[in-house]
Amino acid sequence: MTSPPAAAPDTHTLGSAEAGAPSAARRGTEFEGTATVVARRTVADGVVSLELAASSGEPLPPWRPGAHIDVVLPTGVTRQYSLCGPVKDTARWRVAVLREPDGRGGSQWIHDHLVEGGELRVRGPRNNFPLRPAARYLFVGGGIGITPLLPMIAEAEAAGAEWSLLYGGRTRASMAFLPELEGYGERVTVRPQDRYGLLDLAGFLGDPDPSALVYCCGPAGLIDAVEAHCADWPTGALNVERFAAVAVRQPAGDEAEQPIEVELRASGTTLTVPPGLSVLKAVEQAGVPVLSSCEEGICGSCETPVLEGEVDHRDSLLTDDERAANDTMLICVSRARGRRLVLDL
Ligand code: FES
Repeated sequence: MTSPPAAAPDTHTLGSAEAGAPSAARRGTEFEGTATVVARRTVADGVVSLELAASSGEPLPPWRPGAHIDVVLPTGVTRQYSLCGPVKDTARWRVAVLREPDGRGGSQWIHDHLVEGGELRVRGPRNNFPLRPAARYLFVGGGIGITPLLPMIAEAEAAGAEWSLLYGGRTRASMAFLPELEGYGERVTVRPQDRYGLLDLAGFLGDPDPSALVYCCGPAGLIDAVEAHCADWPTGALNVERFAAVAVRQPAGDEAEQPIEVELRASGTTLTVPPGLSVLKAVEQAGVPVLSSCEEGICGSCETPVLEGEVDHRDSLLTDDERAANDTMLICVSRARGRRLVLDL
């Protein structure tokens, strides 16, 4: 998950989920426990890959291409990283971490302090970026955004699908997993920016193709450009995973300044959430346990079922269909269109 802009530079997180996918599909069977680094390798300038095994020796839960895990660092920060090893490997999970000098310290701690034999708290896997069946796939990866695409490509290849990858990065030396990818031959086009300039998206994507799905992960500028190119493609054809939240829609008028009432039905508690405080924080302050991680509306950890009330969605994860369904919300950023919400918490 991965060349992440300022908001969450070293997170490799989220994007659009499969239309209509319930949160249970995102979560699947989760592991929560201690993992040991059983292998660490430098795979490009500023990128290390880590192979993690459950410290207990137990097998790890299954996952599908596009899944990520939460890594809880000793510094207290939680980061999301895409699983990029073989899907069938239940003994080890592989992730890759880009050093982000301007990040919030998570990636630097991993690069500077995490050695083979070291341990981490790990949670997941969770999948916000599932690979759906298609006859043809067009993969576009930028920088460390290649990571979720690796298992997708392996699956597309195994399924006999037609696929191709356009992979960009600053320089060839900064681009991870090239030997692995170049084994696929002409299906893979590697275009370091210092030699080729910006990716030729128009040439690669071509005209809208109803049989094809486009999967893109990388820096915001790349995703925005791919979204622009795919504006005329069928709904749902483009699937993206962002590293950082898109700009939050600013509510009109003084909507944002209003306190909202939030009933936590399962807990039998009703809270008043003042302006400037997230629903997540208010819930935490009330002592009701809830998972969270990015607090930016990109990772999906805090997704909560909505029982009543209209949600003002401000996340970067849910699809338009999921938003319209109004039955779930990311409480770290989203609020209410009206004055009241009832949540299944
Ligand atoms: S979406 Fe990550 S904590 Fe809410």
